[in-house]
Amino acid sequence: MIEISHLTKKFNDKSGEVTALHDVNLSIGRGDVFGIIGMSGAGKSTLLRCLSTLETPTSGTVTLDGVNLHTLSGNDLIQMRRRMGVVFQGYNLLMQRTVRQNVAFPLSLAGGDPAETARRTSELLELVGLSAKADSYPSQLSGGQKQRVAIARALSTSPEVLLCDEPTSALDSLTTKSVLELLRDINRKLNVTIVIITHEIAVVKAICNKVAVIDASEFVEWGDTQEIFAAPKSRMTRQLLGYEVMNDD
Ligand SMILES: Nc1ncnc2c1ncn2[C@@H]1O[C@H](COP(=O)(O)OP(=O)(O)OP(=O)(O)O)[C@@H](O)[C@H]1O
Ligand SMILES: [Mg+2]
Repeated sequence: MIEISHLTKKFNDKSGEVTALHDVNLSIGRGDVFGIIGMSGAGKSTLLRCLSTLETPTSGTVTLDGVNLHTLSGNDLIQMRRRMGVVFQGYNLLMQRTVRQNVAFPLSLAGGDPAETARRTSELLELVGLSAKADSYPSQLSGGQKQRVAIARALSTSPEVLLCDEPTSALDSLTTKSVLELLRDINRKLNVTIVIITHEIAVVKAICNKVAVIDASEFVEWGDTQEIFAAPKSRMTRQLLGYEVMNDD
């Protein structure tokens, strides 16, 4: 479904050139819950931003069903973005708007039929278990509830893929569990392919059938989660699993 091929992303800042991703290749299949795990600064968010077309690669391609995302513009780009929902770590909710208005926002922005937008919004609030909070404001919600609003909003255009950047890293373990269960339900019931960026091995273990381990801008290991975790080959995977402690030599 998603093919990442020879993807390299470099940034130029005051201190010079930074290579955030170096010649990355990955295949994400339809229906996968795909975990991308690595330490801080490894390039995870940059990868997600390249997938969601928020960032343009320096070289290499990302395709969705064979279409190169970074060659699209105008209406084609808008249509493609509707096929991919994005969930951010910091929720990115509109604080001056109610839960219902937040979820409806992408559809209202696209000029959707108001009655249909209202129907779809109620359906999504039901799905994420927040019907009772429809008229509350984000400031009145817990972190887990805010993330549920963000997930509902990301699903409003009925995307085929949900791209999640550290969706649970600001949440406690019990709330994390319930948000992960929601994502798994969305994958199973709505057949949405899910890509989860995380630095927590527990998140991958809980819901990802596939995993790729990223270390210093490159993938060091990828495949079936159970197989990789049963016999980790790379040092980074073993570290993440807690087999080795970091040492400086
Ligand atoms: N806009 C930018 N300009 C310059 N450098 C950047 C930019 N965005 C990212 N980088 C650099 O690219 C590298 C990868 O950053 P990225 O945010 O992708 O890491 P990450 O794996 O998501 O880390 P974290 O777990 O802390 O979120 C870092 O060295 C970062 O400083
Ligand atoms: Mg990040």
